[in-house]
Amino acid sequence: MLGPCRGKNRRGRTGRRPVPIRFMRILETPRVLLREFVPGDADALARIISDPETMRYYPAPFDRRGVEDWIQRNVRRYAGDGFGLWAMILKESSELIGDCGLIKQLVEHVEEIEIGYHLRRDHWGQGLATEAARAVRDYGFANLKVDRLISLIRPENVPSRRVAARNGMKLWKEVVWRELPHCVYAVRRADLRP
Ligand SMILES: CC(C)(COP(=O)(O)OP(=O)(O)OC[C@H]1O[C@@H](n2cnc3c(N)ncnc32)[C@H](O)[C@@H]1OP(=O)(O)O)[C@@H](O)C(=O)NCCC(=O)NCCS
Repeated sequence: MLGPCRGKNRRGRTGRRPVPIRFMRILETPRVLLREFVPGDADALARIISDPETMRYYPAPFDRRGVEDWIQRNVRRYAGDGFGLWAMILKESSELIGDCGLIKQLVEHVEEIEIGYHLRRDHWGQGLATEAARAVRDYGFANLKVDRLISLIRPENVPSRRVAARNGMKLWKEVVWRELPHCVYAVRRADLRP
């Protein structure tokens, strides 16, 4: 974990003194930084998970309340699990362009740790999701006592399946998860040993 860093200053309640926002940084790759989400990320996150095209494989895009709840769920995960989905910041512009991280999921009554990712549409096709997902995979194996990490992906979500494959994962099984067919991609710790 990289530790706290400062964000843009915001005016305090009195309007006089700027209050620095401190972000908890998790990891860094050549092009992106992952840090914990904060409530002030809602506008930037809405550009990703409220976009109908980006969310076409989900039951529905998130409305504003859904975006705020989504951030709060991840803030609770940081406190309870020590990990969650993290904000993906493009280093060259400091913009929040996606998320990537680790979440607990129950798959066929077994607790698994999933690598999840969502990227703003204007940044697709540059390898950024794969770059972040690989770093999260390595972070997961370095910091958690797990032998397997998975990604749950709708069969028709080909771009996501390609990210999983580039992340060293193989199709493990197909399941019905949250009432929809999903492919379970998996990578084992042992697969990555030289
Ligand atoms: C899934 C998702 C993140 C994939 O986005 P993506 O841009 O295709 O994935 P990456 O950022 O890893 O980019 C990979 C593409 O960039 C290309 N690329 C260009 N420059 C590259 C570079 N420098 N390094 C690596 N790849 C590069 C790759 O060839 C690849 O294209 P290809 O798949 O046509 O071969 C995106 O479609 C998304 O956000 N979808 C909605 C949310 C979602 O479904 N999430 C997954 C839920 S299971």
